[in-house]
Amino acid sequence: MIVLNIEHMKKSYGAETVLEDIHFDIQDNARVGLIGRNGAGKTTIFKVICGQEEPTEGFIHKSKGAQVGYLEQIPQWPENTTVKETLMSAFSELTSIQNAMRTMEADMGTVTGNALETLMNAYDEAQKKYEILGGYDIDEKLGRIITGLKLNSFINQSFETLSGGEKKQEQCWVDFYLRHQTFSFLMNPQTILTLNR
Ligand SMILES: Nc1ncnc2c1ncn2[C@@H]1O[C@H](COP(=O)(O)OP(=O)(O)O)[C@@H](O)[C@H]1O
Ligand SMILES: [Mg+2]
Repeated sequence: MIVLNIEHMKKSYGAETVLEDIHFDIQDNARVGLIGRNGAGKTTIFKVICGQEEPTEGFIHKSKGAQVGYLEQIPQWPENTTVKETLMSAFSELTSIQNAMRTMEADMGTVTGNALETLMNAYDEAQKKYEILGGYDIDEKLGRIITGLKLNSFINQSFETLSGGEKKQEQCWVDFYLRHQTFSFLMNPQTILTLNR
């Protein structure tokens, strides 16, 4: 399946044309490298795909529901954020569903009658959503990343204690694997796509 299709794309900044007649397709699950001299227009292509810049001419078609991640720099986390918390950030929606479920469980002991029935239905819905969104797979996915990136002994340490390369590698996998982004653009990826398992 083609997830990205670009046709006759042109990008100019004022009188200066940076990109002209760009056309290519990217298939689902492809890993593509874009190499060019400084100023050739690599970052501009990314910005157009991400929607940060409009093309001057041409078409960009992304598959329906495609999510785009763009990891240019290592994200800044508040001081003392642990490695585990940065991984868990990918599951924020699931975490809030889980919190709502905990609250509902606590309320089940106090309400009765119709209110209880309504609560049970809401709980049922929340549980279904949690399952569909992969809530029961979180531990397995985290485990794969922790083992693959050899993060076992760092998991409860501050993210700040990781090296630059380790931070970038970890954040790449959060975007690419945990967040399921359709496209993840990495600047200067070096070898960070290697997950040792
Ligand atoms: N916002 C902008 N306004 C004007 N010119 C720009 C802008 N962004 C990039 N350019 C120019 O577009 C060209 C390509 O830049 P860029 O895409 O950053 O190249 P690369 O990432 O391949 O090094 C360069 O000549 C740059 O000066
Ligand atoms: Mg660039």
